[in-house]
Amino acid sequence: MSNKVFSYGKQMIDEEDIKAVEEVLRSDWLTQGPKVKEFESALSNKFNSKFASAVANGTGSLHLIGLALGWGKDDIIITSPITFLASANCILYNNATPDFVDIDKNYYTIDVNKLEEKIKSYRGQGKNIKAVVAVDYAGQPCDWKSLRTLADKYEFQLVNDNCHALGATYKNDFGYAVKFADAVNLSFHPVKHITTGEGGAVLTNNIELDEKIKILRTHGITKDEKYLEKNDEPWYYEMHQLGYNYRITDFQSALGISQLNKLNEFVTKRREIAKHYDNVFSNEEKFIIPEVNDNVEHAYHLYPLQIKFEELEINRKEYFKKLKERNILLQVHYIPVHLQPFYRKNFKFKEGDFTVAEKFYQREVSIPIYPLLEDKDLEYIAENLKEFAK
Ligand SMILES: Cc1ncc(COP(=O)(O)O)c(C=O)c1O
Repeated sequence: MSNKVFSYGKQMIDEEDIKAVEEVLRSDWLTQGPKVKEFESALSNKFNSKFASAVANGTGSLHLIGLALGWGKDDIIITSPITFLASANCILYNNATPDFVDIDKNYYTIDVNKLEEKIKSYRGQGKNIKAVVAVDYAGQPCDWKSLRTLADKYEFQLVNDNCHALGATYKNDFGYAVKFADAVNLSFHPVKHITTGEGGAVLTNNIELDEKIKILRTHGITKDEKYLEKNDEPWYYEMHQLGYNYRITDFQSALGISQLNKLNEFVTKRREIAKHYDNVFSNEEKFIIPEVNDNVEHAYHLYPLQIKFEELEINRKEYFKKLKERNILLQVHYIPVHLQPFYRKNFKFKEGDFTVAEKFYQREVSIPIYPLLEDKDLEYIAENLKEFAK
């Protein structure tokens, strides 16, 4: 029995990170100081985006993306059901109408063929979709080339909910997210690749979108002459659109800069862990390892293992309990969003609407993957996972 407790994800903070935060705490600026801009420049450089806006969390950045893209009543916006609630809730924050397209059965990201079918079906009713929020689930990039082709053909906005995929590549390109999507959403929650405690960011190459995001993240306030109706007092500012307080602090940004320096190292370690699990579970009949598309390098925010519970002596609930007794805390990512009571009640979604996602949900188990795990931990985790899968 290990005396460590293993969850599915965990941050890795070192002395350098602590020093970076401490320095800011001893400075004049706790928030709205120089570190936020520095963090934004570091993000732009790293992910090859023209612009970056750091914000309070990844949910806030999705909300702001929708606002800045002008989503509103009667707009239909699509995401996939296997994602965190925020990918769909941001559609509702903007009073638009959510719909879903099932996931691809091999890669668990949005099925682009089904997306085109859905768009055609809407067109048949005289409707167009406004946007797609495509999620690079678990750290595997979607089929971005096809998504961009569809976005250009049917004229919809493309958002990459990239929270799981920091450090992934698509066709050898580290900066693929902003290259294909109009706006990209990042999260720096502690289970993610890098952390600022809570935190998020919007990346874009579109200057107008970036300006809107920066105004909307701080109440809709602007002091920019090009927007002001008048400008005759030094304290003067105006508000033209309803914004929010989604600001991030300087000490979080300092942590973000320090963590971003280690992103490559973190992702390499995650890939090594995934390789270990691939080797262990690929020959086991009751397990299905996550398949990686040839043209991507997976970033493994999650290691979504599928277990054929329908063939086991115990069900998933009992399996979780047994593993918990061994200090291994499993998770499931995710309960399909369309099956949440809120979505069922308000939008009439029901079981059977997205069968690939629903089947995936029945089997999915997220097993521990984070840089702090050592070889002996992986062996312990794998042995225990196998022991109860009888
Ligand atoms: C796919 C996805 N989108 C959005 C979010 C929201 O990010 P945050 O927790 O920083 O608000 C998350 C966080 O778990 C996520 O996994």
